[in-house]
Amino acid sequence: MSEFRFDGRIAVVTGAGRGLGRAYAQLLAARGAKVVVNDLGGSMEGLGTDTGPAQDAVEEIVAAGGEAVADGHDVSSSEGAQGIVDTAVREFGGLDIVVNNAGIVRFAAFPDVQPEDFERTLAVHTSGAFHVCRAAWPHLVERGSGRIVTTTSTGLFGLPDNLSYATAKAAVIGLTRAMRINGAEVGIKANLIAPAALTRMQGGSVGSGDTPQGRPEMSPDLVAPMVGYLAHADCPVSGEIYAAGSGRFSRIFIGSTEGHVNRERASIEDIAEHWGQINDESGYTVPGDLFAWAGAFMKHLQPEGVGG
Ligand code: NAI
Repeated sequence: MSEFRFDGRIAVVTGAGRGLGRAYAQLLAARGAKVVVNDLGGSMEGLGTDTGPAQDAVEEIVAAGGEAVADGHDVSSSEGAQGIVDTAVREFGGLDIVVNNAGIVRFAAFPDVQPEDFERTLAVHTSGAFHVCRAAWPHLVERGSGRIVTTTSTGLFGLPDNLSYATAKAAVIGLTRAMRINGAEVGIKANLIAPAALTRMQGGSVGSGDTPQGRPEMSPDLVAPMVGYLAHADCPVSGEIYAAGSGRFSRIFIGSTEGHVNRERASIEDIAEHWGQINDESGYTVPGDLFAWAGAFMKHLQPEGVGG
């Protein structure tokens, strides 16, 4: 297979001064993309700022023969997001690829979780992705084959100690699936990555490069190829979620069971009696959007013989 290249493509990777984002920026630049390495540079909890990580990452890319510029804006405000996109347009003349990767973590669950930690977590992960995509959108439309990769987490399956994070990472799925519909007519594809890698967020190294000391099998480099594929012009899907980590790549999807129908005698007792059938995962569907879901869920309302 011929090499997947990004020559002539311009990418923004948020939170790319460290960890996963840095690996994504390095891969895209190594394959020919011009990359805006955005990073606010604060602590894992999102406190403080530091231009060092983004600058270091850029120096590494340039030393390897790639093209990149550093950007220190905060993704969580519309002004900050606009600033990131402006950097891409000013330095490189447009924007083709957005990787929403910036993130913070503030561990707490009910009943201890504080409103300000909940709100800040959503501000960075969810509003951050929204603001950056909104600012980028007209440029992605103009370039004709825009690609968006947003970071979710398998934490959406339920985290015991981090309610804010699980909420924020689930919310970006709704954001991405809505963008998929809006993007379809203008050549934009939007997908999600659920990574697993040893970074400072996962108790890994806190060095500037965040390479997982002694655990190469959990390197961010083993996540980056999936982000590269989803960011490529040839990416075949939109609105989907892919997990990547330790060399395994898989699809995560939201499905619906076939369920149980009883229009004549719907009751609490009938639900209790058919609980097994309502939960039975055999014959499930994976709806692409609301209409696909409604078509499957309401199919018993169609007159006999209609719709096959
Ligand atoms: P990291 O802490 O090494 O990197 C996150 C980067 O985002 C940091 O360099 C930080 O300065 C930057 N950042 C934080 N707030 C920002 C803001 N408001 N504006 C711009 N930059 C900001 O963490 P890691 O592990 O590389 O995480 C990257 C993404 O992957 C995050 O969204 C995280 O939630 C997600 N993730 C990571 C997993 C893992 O296994 N490491 C698992 C699931 C999700």
